[in-house]
Formats: sequence, C-alpha cells, structure tokens
Amino acid sequence: MTKNTLRAGTPLLALLSALTCSLAAQADAPSFNAAGELERPSDFREWIYLTSGLDMFYGPAALAPTADGKRPSVFTNVYVTPPAYREFLKSGTWPDKTMFILEVRRAESAASIDNVGKSQGALAAIEAAVKDVARFGKNDGSNGWGYFSFDGNNGPASTAKALPTSATCYSCHAANTAVDNTFVQYYPTLYEVAKRLGTVKPTFDPAHKL
Ligand code: HEC
Repeated sequence: MTKNTLRAGTPLLALLSALTCSLAAQADAPSFNAAGELERPSDFREWIYLTSGLDMFYGPAALAPTADGKRPSVFTNVYVTPPAYREFLKSGTWPDKTMFILEVRRAESAASIDNVGKSQGALAAIEAAVKDVARFGKNDGSNGWGYFSFDGNNGPASTAKALPTSATCYSCHAANTAVDNTFVQYYPTLYEVAKRLGTVKPTFDPAHKL
C-alpha cells in the first residue's frame, strides 16, 4: 500500500471505529424506554462478573420460606457494565450510568455427580441498580441510584419501573455498603482497589451486623 492510499483510508477507518464504539457503548449502558422504564439487558453475561454470594438472604432476593420454614438456598451473581468497571479500577468510584445486575439462581444440592456441594440451578429473579444522578436525584434518599426488580409471571419481565425510594433497597444499600451505594466489601478484587485508592466510605464498619 502506498502512503497515499493509507492516508485516504484513514477517515473511513476512524468513522468505522467511532461507529463500532458507539454501538458497543449502547449495550454497555442502561437503556430506558419512552415510559421511563429500564430495559432488561439480554447480554449482561458478557459484562464483568464480580461475585456469587451463597445464601445471602435479604430483600426480595430472599425467597419465601417453604413448608419446613426454611428459605430456599440461592446464589446471587453480580455483574457490572464494563466501562464502569474500568473506571472503578482507575478511581475506585462508580461513574454516572453505571449499571449492575443481580441474578438470583436457586442452589441445588447433590445435582448430577455431586454428593455434598451446591451448584446453580433455575433462575429465581433479576434485579438491577443504575447510577444516574440527573434521573434519580441525590437528595431524596436515592443517592443518585435507582433500584429495579424485573418481576414477571413467566420468567423475568423485559422492562421494570424504578422502585419507589420507600423500598428497602434504598435504605439498606445507603446504610450498609462499603463504596457509594454498592456492596464492594463482597467483591474481593474491587474491595482491594477501593482500600488502595481510599474510596471506602468513612462510615463503613466491616464489623457491623444487621
Ligand atoms: C437488607 C439489605 C438489602 C436489601 C433490602 C436489598 N439489598 Fe441489594 N444487596 C445487598 C447485599 C448484601 C448485596 C451483595 C450481594 C452479593 O454479594 O451476592 C446486594 C447487591 C445488590 C446488587 C448488586 C450491586 C450492588 O449494589 O452491590 C443489586 C443490583 C441489588 N442488590 C439490588 C437490590 C434491589 C433492587 C433491592 C430492592 C428490591 C435490594 N437490592 C434490596 C443487600 C440488600
């Protein structure tokens, strides 16, 4: 290729890469429909995986107790949008438009060849948290975050309205989290980052129990 053809190709390449970036950004950020409802992302399993909690019973993720009075065992898988993750690695903080998915799956005992362990089974719920200060405000108890539950009769709904700030999501996430409104104390690699960069909330007490 001569120098001239290389030069002529450059604007086209720049345009193509800008286009690919903006397409990628759409899948990596929260999307709201005209009614202001959050659309459930279909590709969150391609986001950054942070942790799987086992039997961390709280909020609606806690399934109702069964006849024997015990709650069904569940895993909570946490995913975050890749651009937000990259920003957190640099600054220890979540940028606006950060989105988390909490995927709740029933834990199965002794499935297949397993005798004593627990493995992940059927989907039980999908919840989300979105940081968007302009949309959710800052002084109404939300801290700029909106909380969502994709409840549906046949599997998770495709859209969800932001839960009202009176929902327990807001108070528990505001009061008990290590960084911003998020449970970074349970995301081991990110907790290290936050401690190193000094972004753990001064009010956070790791010894505090509910
Ligand atoms: C009593 C406290 C409590 C309540 C109430 C609660 N959560 Fe959480 N939430 C947690 C804990 C603890 C985790 C960490 C889960 C893990 O490590 O598996 C979490 C994690 C999450 C995450 C992952 C991102 C983050 O913030 O760390 C989302 C999304 C989430 N919760 C949504 C909700 C929604 C939606 C509601 C209300 C419908 C809710 N939660 C109510 C305690 C709570």
